[in-house]
Amino acid sequence: MLFRRSTLRLASLCTHVSTQRFASTKTLKETLQEVIPAKQEQLKSLKAKHSQKVIGDVKVENIIGVPALKRLLPAAPGGKEIIAESMLWLLLTGKVPTEAETRQLSRELAEKGDLPTYVEKLIDGLSPSIHPMTQLGIGVAALNHDSEFQKAYESGIKKTEYWTHTLEDCLTLIARLPALAARIYRNIYRQGAEAPAIDKDLDLVGNYTALMGYGANKDLTEYLRLYISIHGDHEGGNASAHTAHLVGSTLADPYLAYSAALFALAGPLHGLANQEVLRWQLAMLKELGGNITLDNIKDYLWKTLKSGQVVPGYGHGVLRKSDPRFIALQEFCDTRPDLLKSATIQLVKKTYQVAPGVLTEHGKTKNPWPNVDAASGCVLYHYGLTEFKYYTVIFGVSRALGALTQLVWARALGLPLERPKSVSMDTLQDMISKGA
Ligand SMILES: CC(C)(COP(=O)(O)OP(=O)(O)OC[C@H]1O[C@@H](n2cnc3c(N)ncnc32)[C@H](O)[C@@H]1OP(=O)(O)O)[C@@H](O)C(=O)NCCC(=O)NCCS
Repeated sequence: MLFRRSTLRLASLCTHVSTQRFASTKTLKETLQEVIPAKQEQLKSLKAKHSQKVIGDVKVENIIGVPALKRLLPAAPGGKEIIAESMLWLLLTGKVPTEAETRQLSRELAEKGDLPTYVEKLIDGLSPSIHPMTQLGIGVAALNHDSEFQKAYESGIKKTEYWTHTLEDCLTLIARLPALAARIYRNIYRQGAEAPAIDKDLDLVGNYTALMGYGANKDLTEYLRLYISIHGDHEGGNASAHTAHLVGSTLADPYLAYSAALFALAGPLHGLANQEVLRWQLAMLKELGGNITLDNIKDYLWKTLKSGQVVPGYGHGVLRKSDPRFIALQEFCDTRPDLLKSATIQLVKKTYQVAPGVLTEHGKTKNPWPNVDAASGCVLYHYGLTEFKYYTVIFGVSRALGALTQLVWARALGLPLERPKSVSMDTLQDMISKGA
């Protein structure tokens, strides 16, 4: 394995990172500098030796699972759930961070977390009736005003240096997302109430809930730590991560690439599903009144399907069994008696008993099992964050971990501009008839 470390580069990096340095810990960037050369070599060698080789299918069980991550990754001080920083570190470097490395990264993000005034003004000027996801996408795109990558590109940096400036932008964006998302929340739902200052000793999600005005709500904070960590990534093939990759492949800066990803996430077949699940469940609760029996839920499922709608929270483009993240959220609920008493959580559990059967009988979906969104919003609702139109914004804060990690690696490996092949239907017909 190649192992390279440039003290010169490190000296310049240190100007960007935390002023508080935990003894004998490496920063995220230093760790990445060690990991990237080996991966670059690996890609070169793979392309040279095996570019024509067909590989087998990758199954979900072959990939490190959510339960293993929950055991391995550090939690916040005083908390039990893994935190976004430890997940980010793992996604970027492939290594499990130590507690000290996680805390150091938390501090680095907290120090970068304040929004520039021009973005505050921009967001404050938007009508509260504009959907929170639209506002988030606008805010993220505008943050590119400060893009290090864009500046460096204009000054004529080498291709091999792209990733370092991309990383700077990605970390700044991840750091600023809580302040941006919380400002949108306060503007729309709290008449623009003043937010507390970012606490430099708190993790990213701890600060996010505090900025939204839920700092004292420890249950919500712990839940969001888990939710944001496990929602961060699930293979780059999902629509939002792919959008970030596609736009990023044009060498657009990370802010523009992630803003585009957010608009993909805003679709009801993707991220908006968690808003839709809750809307659907509340409508079912209203219609069934106190009569929540399995048979009544079945009837409601059929009514949804017969009216031509999808059952939100069920099905998946890739998975063919219950989403492990859905199971992780169920386990979170199972350890908390207050959640088990909640009407919406009970409805999630009962729906899980009958929906796979109904969807199988319906016969269309390839995967009749629940995805993570079947449960995610109900817990937020129970813990008092009831404005479900906002839920996809939380997903947007989370998905940045995966999509932006992918962008750093795309630049480190020098991946090419993505060019989708496009043919007309006539050409396709022609190709088929010629047996091409
Ligand atoms: C996630 C989703 C978009 C995947 O779509 P997909 O890859 O096309 O899934 P499939 O191949 O299983 O779809 C085959 C058919 O089953 C239907 N189907 C899939 N999931 C369904 C569901 N939950 N309810 C009803 N019908 C469903 C599709 O609409 C499609 O119908 P069509 O042939 O008339 O177009 C789809 O399952 C869905 O719409 N789920 C509900 C929304 C949701 O929960 N999204 C969050 C995903 S994490």
